[in-house]
Amino acid sequence: MKWISREELASKPEMTQEEAGEALKAASAQVLRVLPRFTDHFPKAYSEDGMYRPTDNVDWTPGFWTGEIWLAYEYTGDERLKAAGDIQIDSFLERINKKQDVETHDLGFMYSPSCVAGYKLTGNPKGREAALKAADQLITRFHEKGQFIQAWGPLNSPGDYRLIIDCLLNLPLLYWASGETGDRKYKDIAQAHIHTALANVIRPDFSTWHTFFFNRETGEPDHGATCQGYRDGSAWARGQAWGIYGTAIGCRYTGEASYMDLFRGVTDYFLDHLPADLVPFWDLEFGDGDAQPRDSSSASIAACGLLEMSRFMEPGEKAYYAGLAGKILKSVADNYAVKDLSACNGQVLHSTYSNHSPYNTCNHYGVDECNLWGDYFYMEALTRICSDWNPYW
Ligand code: GLY
Repeated sequence: MKWISREELASKPEMTQEEAGEALKAASAQVLRVLPRFTDHFPKAYSEDGMYRPTDNVDWTPGFWTGEIWLAYEYTGDERLKAAGDIQIDSFLERINKKQDVETHDLGFMYSPSCVAGYKLTGNPKGREAALKAADQLITRFHEKGQFIQAWGPLNSPGDYRLIIDCLLNLPLLYWASGETGDRKYKDIAQAHIHTALANVIRPDFSTWHTFFFNRETGEPDHGATCQGYRDGSAWARGQAWGIYGTAIGCRYTGEASYMDLFRGVTDYFLDHLPADLVPFWDLEFGDGDAQPRDSSSASIAACGLLEMSRFMEPGEKAYYAGLAGKILKSVADNYAVKDLSACNGQVLHSTYSNHSPYNTCNHYGVDECNLWGDYFYMEALTRICSDWNPYW
């Protein structure tokens, strides 16, 4: 069998709170160990031969590193972490003030785990200022025609009139901005985008499209396509995981009961396409026996989504979904988390950023490596198991 059966899945052990605490202690120690190198600089999006190199505040990923710092700060209370988090908030404020590399929808990925988190935890006013400016920048990408936030590229570019499933995680920045300012324009745009996204990216069998195009003239839905998945009709593992976490977040912010059914559907599809150790291959088309790389980040993202949604469920379902998260996370911690600190300066091995195939349109990099979001969501999921966590999202 390529994929695990539900009976086998049910028999897998769950991570205990004690184990999660031990894993979080080790992850926090790793953050502290590499902090001197990554305070004035950020790690690049993905490791190379297990090692992250330093880079400036560029790309969509540096906020995950600052988020790791805040999670480690929550766990340890070590003031060196707070000092580094504050330095990085300054960097994010400068980035948005200078509008450097912010022509993207990924502003939530950048500013929620860094600036919103820092503001929530320490009251740093620069975190609030930077995140509100990022929310203002994000809503400039909303198209009335089609009712969605454009993912990539210039807003007038003919080939870029599309959303991508990942954007569901950018929306909490907008809900937060409405809550902070009392101005509902951010929330209204987030709501419209969630509705459009969930109406189009989820296929009848609950697998998901990575990206979805709209007609620029009429705003009508046009067609789905993959970028980072194996092929158009397959389910990119991380896209499916963004769908699990995204429907959970959508449910929290909108209270829309139908989103819970979508969550159950996309979760079932994910579970039905897991290999025996519960850590998916980079595309859910692949399973045990296929010579393909894993994407361990998808496992951690899905675990966070399961734990998030379980907070809003009745006791039976709550225990079921939280238990699934514990099973997945135990495998990530036991089999994928970094143990040999001299060989790696990240947290979780065997993740895949962008794997080129004959049928997709992405570049090839960060295959079978650590990446910043894989490390961050691993720590977030552990934190969720260890405590009653107040989400950064
Ligand atoms: N949001 C980009 C990715 O998941 O690779």
